[in-house]
Amino acid sequence: MNIIAVSGSLRTHSFNTRLSQLLEELAPSGVKVNPATLHGIPLYDADVEEGDGIPAAVSGLRDQIKASDGLVIVTPEYNAGMPGVLKNALDWLTRPGEELKPTFGGRPTALAGATPGAWGTALAQSGALINLRQLGVHLYPAYLRVSAAHTKISDDGVDDELREQAGKWLKGFVEFIREG
Ligand code: FNR
Repeated sequence: MNIIAVSGSLRTHSFNTRLSQLLEELAPSGVKVNPATLHGIPLYDADVEEGDGIPAAVSGLRDQIKASDGLVIVTPEYNAGMPGVLKNALDWLTRPGEELKPTFGGRPTALAGATPGAWGTALAQSGALINLRQLGVHLYPAYLRVSAAHTKISDDGVDDELREQAGKWLKGFVEFIREG
């Protein structure tokens, strides 16, 4: 089974990218988690789409999503919502319109996120539900919400409590995918 875990942060030392890499480390046997980032995706511009077509960074990511059995969106929280780069990527990934269904429709999808704040990106995740509903994903009803991320994730590693939290959550998502 292949799962793609897309981080919504471009930051080198991003807690969310690190969380996507932790999911890769914690993958149960028979499961491969592939962390991905949004580097190289330009701002959506319908003129660019019309003139140059879909950017390579978008079609590459789309191919990975289509080849996956499940998608994890690992979102930071900016001003109580998902970051613009993540919404921008979702918008590109639904272009041209006939790509929406094969990319997202019915795809097992889970929301995860990390923040130094207290609520573990709960507001960004809740806001994302409006967009995920539009995309028609098959939503995993449990969220991975990591609060106080700066106390749990560092360049030296990840603490045991977070490992356990993330490991259990991922196991649940894998079961959700297997159940169909
Ligand atoms: C933030 N941050 C933030 N955190 C939070 O829990 N709720 C919020 O509403 C916001 N708002 C916000 C707005 C903007 C513009 C920035 C730049 C940051 C803090 C944010 O969680 C923190 O910068 C994380 O480290 C971002 O995730 P990465 O880059 O570490 O993955």
